[in-house]
Amino acid sequence: MALRPVLQFPDKRLRQTSETIAEVTDEVRALAADMLEVMYDEPGIGLAAPQLGEAIRLIVVDTDWAEEDGERCPLVVVNPELSDPEDTITWTEGCLSVPDFTADVERAEKITLRGRDLDGNPIEERAEGLRAVCFQHEIDHLDGVLFIDHISRLKRNLYVQKRKKALRRETEESGGGGDASTPGVNL
Ligand code: NI
Repeated sequence: MALRPVLQFPDKRLRQTSETIAEVTDEVRALAADMLEVMYDEPGIGLAAPQLGEAIRLIVVDTDWAEEDGERCPLVVVNPELSDPEDTITWTEGCLSVPDFTADVERAEKITLRGRDLDGNPIEERAEGLRAVCFQHEIDHLDGVLFIDHISRLKRNLYVQKRKKALRRETEESGGGGDASTPGVNL
């Protein structure tokens, strides 16, 4: 079966505010499994449900796996929340929904994540560095926020223009189209 496509900017569904999950149904479990598959396939180190077009508060993260040949260590979080931000860090972020672009974003260096796993057990983790950045990036997705919202208007506009041009080219060439990959992490 084909993997579900990741929505890409400027798809409006990326701008929705996602709903709290009242109950972990089979559909939610299936979506989490799909999200993990897509994340490892791309590859990325995190993915949020709205990136697959489902506006519910569900994220998957595996920041350890990105290190070469690391074992998979997926974290699935239902209704994640952040608290107690401390210090700041600048990381070069990318996103599977924002193709061909990376930018430095300032975030909290340390943060606490709370939520539930798929069985309803509480999750609580104090994260720092890349993992803290990843949590903030993914939870932003649940509120319709993309990392490009955290950069200067000038840089964002340059990207938006470039993206529009690339999309026009893709339409003209019907498929294929500009795929200059950029270094950085896909969150
Ligand atoms: Ni992202």
